Amino acid sequence: MAIQQVGVIGAGTMGNGIAHVFARCGFKVAICDVEQRFLDRGLATIAKNLDREVAKNKITADDKLSTLGRITAVVDREKLAECDLVIEAATEKFEIKAEIFRQLDRLMKAKPEVILASNTSSISITRIGALTGRPDKVIGMHFFNPVPVMKLVEVIRGLATSQATFETVRELALKLEKTPVEVNDAPGFVSNRVLMPLLNEAMYAVMEGVATAEAVDEVFKLGMAHPMGPLTLADFIGLDVCLDIMRVLQDGLGDPKYRPCPLLIRMVDAGWLGRKSGRGFYTYS
Ligand code: 3HC
Repeated sequence: MAIQQVGVIGAGTMGNGIAHVFARCGFKVAICDVEQRFLDRGLATIAKNLDREVAKNKITADDKLSTLGRITAVVDREKLAECDLVIEAATEKFEIKAEIFRQLDRLMKAKPEVILASNTSSISITRIGALTGRPDKVIGMHFFNPVPVMKLVEVIRGLATSQATFETVRELALKLEKTPVEVNDAPGFVSNRVLMPLLNEAMYAVMEGVATAEAVDEVFKLGMAHPMGPLTLADFIGLDVCLDIMRVLQDGLGDPKYRPCPLLIRMVDAGWLGRKSGRGFYTYS
């Protein structure tokens, strides 16, 4: 099936990045969030990130304008009814995603061919699919932050995801100039099952006084050639997101090795969520 028009639910970091790459690659995009101010902020971020690409001569100033021209911002989810595929990039909470998928499935009742994808970083695609009347059309399309830069799309098959849906989404990722990697449905998939325990362990090292956050980050930048140390990366991802993912790993895999670091829990309780709140392991102006 030819995908021409794409809906993106959520105008936050991931949602605006996803809308950015689809629009830049020629797709018409409807980006949807619950309040106009979130949409305004998301569109401003897209414009700013397109400016970076213009400054680096990756695209022209005209490309920027035509990309923005392909994006429509909507508060009302019913306006997504024209889309051929919708990607949900809302908050990483099962109840929120459940409500969205049930509504999308209802809205698209007359169009059973529409694919419903989730950018979830850890929640079960099989469980999300089972909430809809089209579990064969539900799939995980997991992008990485910053979406315009990172090449990977983890494509996650739920138990009921059909081969046709998988192939459509894999081809779509290629059209976005990304590299799709096929992964089966399991808590945290591959990316976060491996990454989050690393970040969590780095937090334990800081909590136990093994080293400062700066020292832990230097070890990984200089010793393992990571572009960002684990605590800088945790701040970049958002400490609340890291905690939510650790809890999905702990609940879904049941092994105590996935216990979230108590320092992480305390920091999230304090509202120290990393870069987005101005304070995490580091402070940001
Ligand atoms: N939009 C468009 N372009 C961007 C951008 C954005 N949001 N952010 C950075 N760029 C571009 C810059 O223009 C630059 O382009 P160039 O290569 O042509 O010069 C390039 O990306 C590198 O940016 P900078 O020079 O500003 O900065 P750095 O070299 O420090 O790179 C970084 C920044 C790409 C973020 C790098 O530090 C990095 O790769 N960090 C690790 C990121 C990572 O691990 N992401 C995955 C997080 S996990 C996740 O998302 C999954 C979720 O489920 C938790």
